[in-house]
Amino acid sequence: MENKEKIVVVGYGWVGQANALALKKMGYPVNYYDITTPVKNYSDYEDIYSQIKPLGSVLEKDDENTWYIVCVGDKVLPDGTQDISAIEKALDSIKTAKGKVVLRSTVLPRSLKNLRFDCYMPEFLHEKKGVEECVQPYYFVVGNRNVKKWPSFIKRWMNKTDKTFEGSPEQASYIKYLSNIWNASRVALVNEFGDAMHGNGLEGQNVEEVIDFIFNKRNYLKYGKSFGGHCLPKDMNAFSQDHNSTLFKAVLTSNTNHQEIESQRNLKEWFSYWDYQATISFKKLFSILFRKSHPVELAKSIKMKSEPVAQLLMAPFRKDKNEPKI
Ligand SMILES: NC(=O)c1ccc[n+]([C@@H]2O[C@H](COP(=O)([O-])OP(=O)(O)OC[C@H]3O[C@@H](n4cnc5c(N)ncnc54)[C@H](O)[C@@H]3O)[C@@H](O)[C@H]2O)c1
Repeated sequence: MENKEKIVVVGYGWVGQANALALKKMGYPVNYYDITTPVKNYSDYEDIYSQIKPLGSVLEKDDENTWYIVCVGDKVLPDGTQDISAIEKALDSIKTAKGKVVLRSTVLPRSLKNLRFDCYMPEFLHEKKGVEECVQPYYFVVGNRNVKKWPSFIKRWMNKTDKTFEGSPEQASYIKYLSNIWNASRVALVNEFGDAMHGNGLEGQNVEEVIDFIFNKRNYLKYGKSFGGHCLPKDMNAFSQDHNSTLFKAVLTSNTNHQEIESQRNLKEWFSYWDYQATISFKKLFSILFRKSHPVELAKSIKMKSEPVAQLLMAPFRKDKNEPKI
């Protein structure tokens, strides 16, 4: 191990467990602290779970090499008000820490200024592939305040991702909300259009064929069930209330209307995850091949990335090569 970093994950739910399991898999010493007894969310990782121990008190492992990764949840009330009191409490519990604090919870941009952390790194994972997407993040977005030198685990994440953004915490938060709002809006648009065709008498497969012709069955662009889960409705609601946005409120209303239609029809449920291979760039290809200075590292890197590299080399021969990348 090239470093002395110790990780303490604060809040061991979906995001906390994915971060802890990923970092343990990457070879770091990881502990977690949670105020409740967590339920394990990722059934494929039983062996790694057993290596991650809870702490009795949050500061038990504290020193200059400790990195606290705060993954406590926000709540959004039905009227769209975001409640971040649990996040505030968790940050308060580590305010005397010697280590650095990385906040991963989703927080509205304007609320960040009152929170105490060293850098803000919103999380973009999907629950179905949480650990895999945390080992190799699709987006890596950092809003830095006080970190002078990135620790090795953050550098490794930056090297693994295809898209890195470094800016202010507020910018990082806007990117998180824009990503979720874009995904939710696409789902609602396709569903509303599909429902319109259905209302005019077009049925099942015929409706899907029209949508699929334009969108090639791409993630978030398939006719099917409404968007749901722990994040999209919550974040959409909070952001549209905070900015009094008529468009985003309409997306939520459209999604609710579609829920009624889907209960009467047998619509498909589909799950999204990030489409890494569609976005691998020449810059990334070169970094994959040449960043490693040692020949063994280079060989390992090529072996690990062989599938995306193969996809990239095949790209000019794909029929849909002119499609915009998602
Ligand atoms: N679930 C997702 O797919 C996902 C994806 C991206 C971002 N996010 C965001 O990440 C944040 C966390 O989401 P989640 O789904 O992991 O939530 P979660 O509810 O599954 O987990 C939060 C955990 O924090 C614990 N907690 C609360 N107060 C605490 C405290 N003071 N100290 C220690 N632990 C405490 C809770 O007991 C709970 O186990 C949210 O803001 C969410 O919007 C979630």
